[in-house]
Amino acid sequence: MFLQDKIEASIARRSRSRSPDTNVCRLVNGTGDGLDGLIIDDFAGRWLISVKEGAESPNLAPGLGYRAVYSKTLSKNEKSAPAHLGGDQLTARFSVQENGLSYWIDFQSGYSQGLFLDQRLNRQRLRKLGPSKTVLNTFAYTCSFGVAAASAGAKAVNLDLSQHYLEWGQENYRLNGLEPEESNFIYGDVFDWLDRFAKRNRRFDLVVLDPPTFSRSKTSGVFRAEKDYGALLQRALRVIEPGGILLCCLNAHHVSATEFRYILKNGLPSRVDLRQMPMPDDFPGSDYLKSFWVHL
Ligand SMILES: C[S@@+](CC[C@H](N)C(=O)[O-])C[C@H]1O[C@@H](n2cnc3c(N)ncnc32)[C@H](O)[C@@H]1O
Repeated sequence: MFLQDKIEASIARRSRSRSPDTNVCRLVNGTGDGLDGLIIDDFAGRWLISVKEGAESPNLAPGLGYRAVYSKTLSKNEKSAPAHLGGDQLTARFSVQENGLSYWIDFQSGYSQGLFLDQRLNRQRLRKLGPSKTVLNTFAYTCSFGVAAASAGAKAVNLDLSQHYLEWGQENYRLNGLEPEESNFIYGDVFDWLDRFAKRNRRFDLVVLDPPTFSRSKTSGVFRAEKDYGALLQRALRVIEPGGILLCCLNAHHVSATEFRYILKNGLPSRVDLRQMPMPDDFPGSDYLKSFWVHL
């Protein structure tokens, strides 16, 4: 099969599983779709091709159905914004829908576009939490978990080291008709704030832990997920209500789900219930994102 045919076949497979209130999905997921090294994400008709370092982006025929095509290179060191390849030139942010909730996407903002599509099932699950629960969304980024929780009537506190992303998160709240209360968007270091909450005896019904694989903070220093997850977990346990829930995610190719479960089990009280959330169907063949819902 030619490249274009394979891409078309993958797009056709995705369109069969699309829900009407969602216009974002992964159209091509590398080897899982028989297209090694090629990823295409659809953000409401604006397609983003991601290729490995050194690989060329394919030319996509306009007839495939996109409004715009952009491309970026997956690289640990170089994190540049996507480059325009075809169709409309995007000059502003735009909104997309996922299960009826809206999020701002920006192709000009840098390496990440505003919404991690692989977290769709966890966001959906969060919406089943029920009203008047309290949620601490650590490493909040653009607060998509906060939006999902708040849309279900929960009170979410979003915590991140980037003021820019927290403002983006507030815009996401407004986009969904939710009033962002300033005090629920905390600019700061997760480790530092987990300690502060513990000291103040502040507790949450649910805590989301979805850290980057690596980060550096002036307050807590270097964080390496595989090495430091246990310490993060211990701090999070101190701010959870008895009988509360933890959502523990790890985005790392080199740590298996079994190893991650072991890290978690090691730090959790015995006999807690750990349930793994699979990755969404439009990520066939991938297991880099490990998510466990922990019921204490
Ligand atoms: C991979 S993103 C998290 C994605 C997010 N959970 C989501 O699903 O949208 C990582 C985020 O963690 C934040 N971050 C990294 N280190 C941090 C720290 N020590 N304290 C607070 N935020 C941190 C970054 O600013 C970034 O927004």
